[in-house]
Amino acid sequence: MLENSNISSNIIKPKVISQFTYYIETYGCQMNVSDSELVSNELEKIGYTSSDKIELADLILLNTCSIRDKAEETVHNRLNSLHYLKKNNPKLLIGVIGCMAQNLKNELLDSKPYIDIILGPDSYRKISEIVYNRNNKINHIVDTKLSKYEVYDNMYPSRNSGVNAWVPIMRGCDKFCTFCIVPFTRGRERSRTIESIVKEINLAIEEGFVEITLLGQNVNSYKTPDGDFPVLLEKVANIRGVKRIRYTSPHPKDINVDVLKVMSKYDNICKNIHLPLQSGSTKILKMMNRTYTKENFLNLVKVIKEYLPDCSLSTDIIVGFPGENDFDFQETLDVVNKVEFNFSYMFKYSSRPGTKAAQYTNQINENIKQERLEELIELQNNIRLKVNKSKIGKIEKVLIEKNSKKSDQFWSGRTDGNILTIIKKNNEKVKDIVDVLITDAKGLSLFGENINNKGQIS
Ligand code: 5AD
Ligand code: SF4
Repeated sequence: MLENSNISSNIIKPKVISQFTYYIETYGCQMNVSDSELVSNELEKIGYTSSDKIELADLILLNTCSIRDKAEETVHNRLNSLHYLKKNNPKLLIGVIGCMAQNLKNELLDSKPYIDIILGPDSYRKISEIVYNRNNKINHIVDTKLSKYEVYDNMYPSRNSGVNAWVPIMRGCDKFCTFCIVPFTRGRERSRTIESIVKEINLAIEEGFVEITLLGQNVNSYKTPDGDFPVLLEKVANIRGVKRIRYTSPHPKDINVDVLKVMSKYDNICKNIHLPLQSGSTKILKMMNRTYTKENFLNLVKVIKEYLPDCSLSTDIIVGFPGENDFDFQETLDVVNKVEFNFSYMFKYSSRPGTKAAQYTNQINENIKQERLEELIELQNNIRLKVNKSKIGKIEKVLIEKNSKKSDQFWSGRTDGNILTIIKKNNEKVKDIVDVLITDAKGLSLFGENINNKGQIS
């Protein structure tokens, strides 16, 4: 759905201003985290500096998510609670960016006239001039025009420090799963050039990042004249200094053996795939327009394990989709039992106005959704613990990320399969990949000891 822009026509070119600060609060997916980094950099170009304290900022941006009604409700509440800050600081600007801006601009303007800026996900290139204009009292500034081309090439993000850099490789989605608002809020699929992705990764490595996560609503729909996703993945694996590569999310329909072959060829590509199942019932998958059956999914898992025997799998599951009966739900539990995902994001179906599934008449009662969700979570928790316990006594490669939350005597890192692992500090340091003997598994985490003599192997 391409929407019209109603951006004010009398744009004034932004000048550098030095005394202003900004604060961005990010909701939703990693793509939003990455977009917030892009927006930060644009603001810094015109002299804004980042503030740690929302109460002291001159510009507050909420980068929003529309995927479920809860996500939207949280932002509405947050906006209501931020409104009062304008009383203390009349110059404060409040902006809503991201999917809700795209989806609900009229509702937001009507219900919250104190919002100064509304920008959809394809309009961030304009943020500096829009902020400048708003500071100069040009009325509410709204731009929610979706683009067929915008991939933010040549816009570099201001990344938060750490070990992992998020690198978007494509934007938008053409799949139109019937439950999902993303194709409407983020528009059509488009891919960045391999050249610009490689350039950005080289810069990230120079900045000190060692893990790269390639991002897209549908990474394996990535397509350019210079190559598709497996070609890109191989190029990235060959970049010097890239210790680890992850990607998220692929669509099960588009995972092919070329991707798996590249994954098996390179040690620095993590053997971990986030493979959204959504439902285990072929009937429901059809109503969701997922374009695969339960058997297709299970077969894909088999093929993945043939190429990558130790590959860990995580997933997304929705319970209570319209028309889901007990049998359909049992089908989902059956797939969860068979695949043994090591992690799962589990959701109750949330009806999104404008999507096809919102018009289905056989919506499921909230109590049933809740019961199914609880049953699924319990099963998945048990499976996760079983999978984690099966690692005890084994050696896992762990990338050290930061101090453990509970004690600075311990490191927190991740295995190749993306499991959080706590190890006692020795002479290793952040960004090292070390061999860890797993000694215990509790809750979400593994516990272990570094068995490398000198504490580091890379
Ligand atoms: N209701 C519940 N979950 C949803 N998701 C997407 N749309 C909805 C919805 N309307 C979930 C899917 C997707 C993940 C990002 O969010 O599982 O993979
Ligand atoms: Fe939404 Fe489906 Fe596209 Fe994923 S593939 S973003 S669930 S429409």
